[in-house]
Amino acid sequence: MKSFKELPDDAGSNIIGQVTAQANRLSKRLASVKRTVAIMSGKGGVGKSAITANLATALTLSGCAVGIVDADINGPTIAKMMGVRNTTLEYASTGVKPAISSRGTKIISMDLLLSEDDAPVLWNAHTQKDAFTWRSTMEVGALREFIGDTEWGELDYLLLDLPPGSDRLPNVAELIPNLGGVVVVTIPSEVSHLIVKKSITMARDILKVPVIGIVENMAFYVCKHCGEHEPLFSAEGTPDNVFQLTTLGKIPFDPKLSHCSDSGTPYVHEHPETPASKAIIEVAHKIQDFFKT
Ligand SMILES: Nc1ncnc2c1ncn2[C@@H]1O[C@H](COP(=O)(O)OP(=O)(O)OP(=O)(O)O)[C@@H](O)[C@H]1O
Ligand SMILES: [Mg+2]
Repeated sequence: MKSFKELPDDAGSNIIGQVTAQANRLSKRLASVKRTVAIMSGKGGVGKSAITANLATALTLSGCAVGIVDADINGPTIAKMMGVRNTTLEYASTGVKPAISSRGTKIISMDLLLSEDDAPVLWNAHTQKDAFTWRSTMEVGALREFIGDTEWGELDYLLLDLPPGSDRLPNVAELIPNLGGVVVVTIPSEVSHLIVKKSITMARDILKVPVIGIVENMAFYVCKHCGEHEPLFSAEGTPDNVFQLTTLGKIPFDPKLSHCSDSGTPYVHEHPETPASKAIIEVAHKIQDFFKT
């Protein structure tokens, strides 16, 4: 396939000019963002989005200016978890204003652009079969616009909630050459470890992106009768030598966290004294420490 630079004629669309202008907008926006952090796993359903939402809230509550890019274009959940699904986005000539959560976190998500609750993302092509060929390219384009065309203002942290799949980080790394680091989420099962290892190889060894550390989510649950920690998955958990990386925290399963995600209320703010909130707040502190060193 030819790159756009090799096209003999752009049929008057000035495609090179458009792409260059968009790339310029992106780097201008990123200049006002101090640190970018991608939350990834490779594995689906391990809690990436719930952790992104709560880390963002924890950082916001600690006085930082925080934004979230919901980089899951096809399965966006951040707007719901942050309670901003009903926001009507405002557009200006300088860009789109992000939705703002009750605690002040800024959010942009494909979910805010879809008109109906059950509308899937449909890429523009003759047929949805044709669109398949272009999906990855179009996803990168959508992400570029999310980051570049949003009026983020000055941010201390921009968190990116990645979709499952170890092939997603390269798209982000292409758009954000100075990606500050990645936080890798796993659950305590060998099935999860298997996939998560692939993502770590992609981040650390292939893309050379700093890996801040591992978050083990749903690490255990606290028995409401006796207070004992009971395993939810494998009793072995995630042994320290599985990934050879810093463990940032072990977050227990708490039905209240799931309920808060569903109702769009910030769990770490609503229930700050629970073991899961304390663990998430501790992870947020460790991320802050990572950037101080
Ligand atoms: N520690 C936890 N305790 C209770 N519920 C949790 C916890 N972590 C995540 N959940 C819930 O588990 C479900 C899956 O989490 P989430 O959507 O964040 O996973 P994900 O990794 O982002 O999934 P996907 O790969 O589809 O993007 C959600 O309903 C979420 O609220
Ligand atoms: Mg998710």
